[in-house]
Amino acid sequence: MTALQQKFDEGRRRLLMDRSVPGRVGATLPPLDVPEQDLPPDSLLRTELALPEVSEGELVRYFSQISQSNFSIDHNFYPLGSCTMKYNPKINDEIASIPGLAAIHPLQPESTVQGALKLMYELQGYLAAITGMPGVSLAPMAGADGELAGMLMTRAYHLERGEPNRKNVLIPDSAHGTNPASAAMAGFDVVTLPSDANGDTDLEALRASVSEDLAGLMITLPSTLGLFDANIVEVCRIVRDAGGIVYGDGANLNALLGRVKLGDLAFDVIHSNLHKTFTQPHGGGGPGAGPVISGPRLRQYMPSPVVTRETDADGTETYSLSSPEKTIGRMGAFHGNFGALVRAYAYISTLGNAGIAQISDDAVVNANYILSGLKGYYDLPYDRTCMHEVVFSARNLKRAYGVSALDVAKRLIDYGIHPPTMYFPLIVEEALMIEPTETESKETLDYFIEVMRTIAQEAAENPELLHDAPHDTLNSRVDEARAARQPDLRWRPAP
Ligand SMILES: Cc1ncc(COP(=O)(O)O)c(C=O)c1O
Repeated sequence: MTALQQKFDEGRRRLLMDRSVPGRVGATLPPLDVPEQDLPPDSLLRTELALPEVSEGELVRYFSQISQSNFSIDHNFYPLGSCTMKYNPKINDEIASIPGLAAIHPLQPESTVQGALKLMYELQGYLAAITGMPGVSLAPMAGADGELAGMLMTRAYHLERGEPNRKNVLIPDSAHGTNPASAAMAGFDVVTLPSDANGDTDLEALRASVSEDLAGLMITLPSTLGLFDANIVEVCRIVRDAGGIVYGDGANLNALLGRVKLGDLAFDVIHSNLHKTFTQPHGGGGPGAGPVISGPRLRQYMPSPVVTRETDADGTETYSLSSPEKTIGRMGAFHGNFGALVRAYAYISTLGNAGIAQISDDAVVNANYILSGLKGYYDLPYDRTCMHEVVFSARNLKRAYGVSALDVAKRLIDYGIHPPTMYFPLIVEEALMIEPTETESKETLDYFIEVMRTIAQEAAENPELLHDAPHDTLNSRVDEARAARQPDLRWRPAP
């Protein structure tokens, strides 16, 4: 790097306070047109308050630069497995910001928000039709919140039947990490089920784990291995025959839409991540919506509220918020994350039946395209057709050249691609979990495949290049755990 390039590089790293020059201003205040007021007493005033003194132009340039340092789906390809970072049509945001939807208050009388309630009612109907399960509560605010609701419903069901002994929830080792956490939060004991050599639920282990203490099974379908469990019908039968509830983590519904209805597979209760499957980016624990959807056995326990409709003799429809008969109560204040519900409603309405089925077709084709493009370059622990995501392993690179999944992921950033999910699912060593999503073009997938093949070659020829990646970002390797746990958010003047 030349001295001038270094100067440029240092310049773009400078924080706003470091750009400050005494006396420089970025705003002109209008003449005072209100009575002048006395300042509070000195004891309440700071003698020094360091504020950045910059021109308006410098301010705009600073914020524009940092906005572009942030990786986003609107900038680049984002194949983060299990997170479904797909392109979200802007029209959905536009609809969610219509004042009649965005500016209403949850405590307004129901008669003044009939349109919003109708939207929620119809969304409940869409989700019931898509999943083949009749009961829908839009209340949970995220996928994990939907899981907790489903587990609390399971508990209520067993308690009401006088079976408090049913404490065990079976969870395959290929489940999403939130599943055991939700079961434990609802007071259950988690029993892990191993996967068999094909990545499906091990039926022998399942049979051996079933007892009169069985509360239910929580299974992610397709699993976090990106696989459709070939044993699923038998798995559901064994659990139900033993008096257990079958909970389906339906967060990966974008692999099944229009093709498989979880209700037809005898699931009792599931949740759907609206923010993964039906538009809206997924990030940082929200904002999202994780409606819980149930079959007949658990319907009466659903969280409040649900929206119901009554039709008068003259045909006038009235929508109301109501509580299922034996509801587990509320999952949070008010009625769910309404903005996320509007976006999902807009998305589903725009696509219609044919468009909805196209989502899963494209998501699955795209993932399998990547599978065949990278097979032979990276280890493929489960060599079979995948669903919406594919899990590779970098263990071949690790053994041969000391290059880890983390190194591969970091190097992708140099090529303008967000890293895939790494080291998850836990049962795959050096896992690279890639979810291209349905919205990516063949050109983007081809570019990704070419980059991944190039990185495998770089690993053989110049492993150091990968250990130090990324090379072109404001920061290279950071201590990610420390950055999250002890963030340093305060500017301090240089000593
Ligand atoms: C399969 C699966 N289940 C559950 C969740 C949890 O959803 P949330 O992050 O909305 O709580 C996710 C999130 O990505 C997921 O992929």
